[in-house]
Amino acid sequence: MSTAIPNRPVGVGLISVGWMGKVHSRAYLALPIVYPELGIKPRLVIAADNVQERADYARDVLGYEKITLDYHDVLNDPEVDVVSICAPNFLHAEIGIAAAKAGKAFWIEKPVGRGADETESVEKAADAAGVVTSIGFNYRNAPAVEHSKQLIASGALGRITNIRGTFFADYSAEPNGALSWRFIRKFAGSGVLGDLMGHLADLVQYLVGPISEVSGITKTIITERPVLQMGSGTHFDVIEGGEKKPVENEDYGGALIRFADNAIAAGAVGTIEASRVAVGPRASYNFEIYGTEGSVKWDFERMNELEVAIGRKGEHVGYQRIMASPSFGDFGSFQPGAGTSMGYDDLKIVEARKFLEAYFGGPAKNSNIHDAVAAARVVSAIEESAESKKWISVKPATGTTAAIAK
Ligand SMILES: NC(=O)c1ccc[n+]([C@@H]2O[C@H](COP(=O)([O-])OP(=O)(O)OC[C@H]3O[C@@H](n4cnc5c(N)ncnc54)[C@H](O)[C@@H]3O)[C@@H](O)[C@H]2O)c1
Repeated sequence: MSTAIPNRPVGVGLISVGWMGKVHSRAYLALPIVYPELGIKPRLVIAADNVQERADYARDVLGYEKITLDYHDVLNDPEVDVVSICAPNFLHAEIGIAAAKAGKAFWIEKPVGRGADETESVEKAADAAGVVTSIGFNYRNAPAVEHSKQLIASGALGRITNIRGTFFADYSAEPNGALSWRFIRKFAGSGVLGDLMGHLADLVQYLVGPISEVSGITKTIITERPVLQMGSGTHFDVIEGGEKKPVENEDYGGALIRFADNAIAAGAVGTIEASRVAVGPRASYNFEIYGTEGSVKWDFERMNELEVAIGRKGEHVGYQRIMASPSFGDFGSFQPGAGTSMGYDDLKIVEARKFLEAYFGGPAKNSNIHDAVAAARVVSAIEESAESKKWISVKPATGTTAAIAK
């Protein structure tokens, strides 16, 4: 390897070894191979989970040097430089604030708390400590999404007039789908709004700018489910014949939206919807962005494709389906040619790259705690609007990476 490449070891601590804890760990392990030119060498120092067998998995399978049942041990470990916080929502604020106070940069999963007030408390602590933050807004990192962002910013679609976003999943469409922590207010906060709408709010704001006003609706469709103990199974589990308890938050949320005056899409309007009980879409995370000169459509189920229409005249007016290729986003770091598709884990490897580059003082391409606040405020405004049946203004966030008009 060339001597021009820096040698940048970094000690990693992980808090919670569920689905996301595994995905973050795989991302750290893959990073030096996918991006050898950065010289960043994550070392998996210590992992915490309060369930012994999950902690054991971190040591025995993922390769962490040490394990603990108490997450404070991760934050107090002098060999830990950066922390991945992959705990359920009710612990985000407590752990995020503690990580900031311990002076550790952290990569935290969305939605960063059970509501905008908790996200703001983490923002305050991170700002006070001056630590680098990164949020699990992985869909930003899809090369076709990055390409859409460039097209919009370059003006290729003209003036943005309206958008439509639908994050529709079927992970809880089965009536005997498990009542995991995601359905209980004290653990999750809102339901699909925090879980999927937060991702969509972030994606939309990243691409076309801040949302300023919402008129929302919510609905719980399956009102009780069989109980699943935290730290066992996954929220995809189906439990036949188990004891049922009430679902405490919404399965569906939707909103009419308007964009702020400083957005690339200033003056534009749109709709955003999310469901965790849609039958048909598996993980159809989709946006359509329309402008006076063209439009783009993307769906996570076809993550490597983008439908693009540019221009209003000629025999071939209408959509072209193009495939992500090495010139789109980070695609070239993974595959040498179009058609050899990337997957979900790869988005997390890109996210790890952005986080750790920012940690080492490189370009700040990471989503940050201010982006989490911006998304959480949209989610909270939709909840408030659904309750009051009124349009609700979204308090502007500062320091975000939202698409602002030049
Ligand atoms: N970015 C994405 O696409 C994405 C996808 C899934 C989940 N998430 C987010 O990631 C977070 C975790 O979700 P998940 O699906 O991995 O959950 P999970 O239920 O699979 O894992 C959560 C883990 O936290 C552990 N835990 C509970 N209390 C703890 C404590 N006090 N100390 C340490 N560990 C504790 C549990 O034992 C469990 O292993 C959530 O906030 C969720 O919104 C993001």
